[in-house]
This record gives sequence, structure tokens and C-alpha cells, in this order.
Amino acid sequence: MTTNSMVKLMLQKKGDFCSGEELSRELRISRTAVWKQIKTLREKGYLIEAAPRRGYRLVGLPDRLYPEIFTVGLNTSLLKGPYYHFMKVDSTNRALRQLAEEGKPQGTIVIAEEQLQGRGRLGRSWHSPPGKGIWISVLLKPPLAPENSACLTLLAGVTVQKTIQEVTGLETGIKWPNDILYSGDKLCGILTEIKAEMEALHYLIVGIGLNVNQGKSDFPPELAKSSSLKIITGQKQDRHQLTTALLQNMDNLYRLFLQEGFGAIREMWKGKNITLGQKITVHRQGAASFSATALDIDGKGRLKIVTEEGREDTITAGEVSLNPE
Ligand code: BTN
Repeated sequence: MTTNSMVKLMLQKKGDFCSGEELSRELRISRTAVWKQIKTLREKGYLIEAAPRRGYRLVGLPDRLYPEIFTVGLNTSLLKGPYYHFMKVDSTNRALRQLAEEGKPQGTIVIAEEQLQGRGRLGRSWHSPPGKGIWISVLLKPPLAPENSACLTLLAGVTVQKTIQEVTGLETGIKWPNDILYSGDKLCGILTEIKAEMEALHYLIVGIGLNVNQGKSDFPPELAKSSSLKIITGQKQDRHQLTTALLQNMDNLYRLFLQEGFGAIREMWKGKNITLGQKITVHRQGAASFSATALDIDGKGRLKIVTEEGREDTITAGEVSLNPE
């Protein structure tokens, strides 16, 4: 905790010196303990300059998604942590499920620099190299019937689309249910997992994988249709800033959803979607794929389609690909 407070205090100084005496007074620790904390922070990758009689100043942040950095300036009312940061984890969704089972509250967040067994939709894996993306899972406990949980999947897509637009200026599109694409290349995938009984949703885990700073060679050949914000903008992006904006936007939209229902989120989703009105192929696990036209999203976040034979249907799970014109 002292480490977090020390980073926050030094960040508030915006690069100015902070004397050892001030740090010791503000954090209520001895001068020796201040020195130990500075050493710990340097080991975590913080660049801290020390000058006789002037004290310490923070001159560089590590490119690691430490919560004490991305929570500065965050003003959330529902997604308030606790935050768990891992250098390596099998899957942030899996780690968060364990924490949820231990009774952790709504707003608990797991973030990792690298996932060794990142999970994708429909049983696929998710490529999650160290330090290149945002691999994050958020625990939500909305008072909803399980059949409405797809609304939150769509909410997560709107969150990411909006975050990318705000931070980088890029206009991306959402493919149902929540893939974020730019010029046909995938930038982000979202895996929502729920624990529910027939009538009751216990909790929902929203896992977001956003490709941020990969270069072309960081993607294996089978991910030729994937891209990153760095590849598209030509610039390395600030993962801290993106994470802060992502959590702030998710908190704002989730609050709106709880207060007013799915209506406004549905309209936002429709405003940024690239699926409706398109000819698509529907893929479902363990079933044959078929062609259809995407018509609309219903009040539960499901996709309304019409098949080539003219039969109308609604799909809840699965994935669609956009057919070439
Ligand atoms: C997809 O297949 O499009 C969904 C990919 C979801 C990946 C994210 S990364 C963070 C979270 N943890 C996981 O194991 N998967 C999700």
C-alpha cells in the first residue's frame, strides 16, 4: 500500500522533486523506509532521480500496467477494484473466476502483462504476448436474468470502440457481438463468461483483449487478419492511458445500463456496428455454418437475421463473418 501511495504522491508532483522528509511525513514512514520503498520502485521499473537536499523525483514510468499508475485520474463508482496485476498468468478470465468464487466484489479487476493460455471465443486461444496489449478481466454482478447477459457483451464492445476513438482518434467498427475491427482487421476480442442458474445470474466476467503495441511480426501467420493500434497509427500507444479510459468508459456505460436499461447502449452499438444490413455467414460451435443477412439487434443484444431461404431467426451465441460484396 505504501508503494502505491508513494507513486501517487510523486505523480501528483508532475516531475518536481519531493523531499525525503515530505515523503516520510506524508506516508507516515521512517526515512529508512522511504529509501527502501524507492529501491522497490526502481526494481519495478520506475525511473527515480535522487538529488542531495532536494529529494526524489519521478522521471519515467515503467511500461507495465501497474494499478497505482492507471488508477490516477480514474473516477469510477462501480469498477473500483480490488485490482490484481500479474506479470504472467494463464488467463485473466480464469484467475478472476477463482477470485469471484472466493467472494470478491463487483468491480474486481485482473490485468496481466502476458497470458500463457489466453482464451478466445468458441474455444479458441488468444495470443497475448508480454507488454504488448491490454489483457484485462472485469467482474460484474448485475441484477439481471441470465438471458439478458448478452447486453453486457455488447456494452463491452461499445466501451472499447469509444476508448480507441477517444485516445487515438481511430474510428473502428463493431462486428456482432463485439469484435472491434479496422479495415477488416481485428484489434480487439471480448470473451464474456457467466455463472448462472436457471433464474439467477451470479456473476459475469468480461475479458477484453486489446492489441496495442504489437508490430506485424508479433502476430503468428494464422493471425494475418489481426492488427494493433500501433500498426494502424504508426505510433506506440500509451497502455496506461488506454486502460484508464477503458475502465472509466465501462463504468460510465455500466451505470447508464443499470439506471436506464439497454436502450441507449443498443443505439450506441448500432451507431458503430458494421454488421447490420450485411450478408453474413453464421458460425456456431458444433453446427454447420450458413449464410444469412443481419437485420437488427433485439432488446436482449441478440442478432436478428433472415436466412437465404427467407426464414427469420435470432442468434444468441456464436460468431458471424462478413461475406465479401
Ligand atoms: C475472442 O475470441 O475474440 C475473444 C478474445 C478475448 C481475449 C481476452 S484477453 C483477457 C481475457 N482473458 C482471456 O483468457 N481471454 C480474454
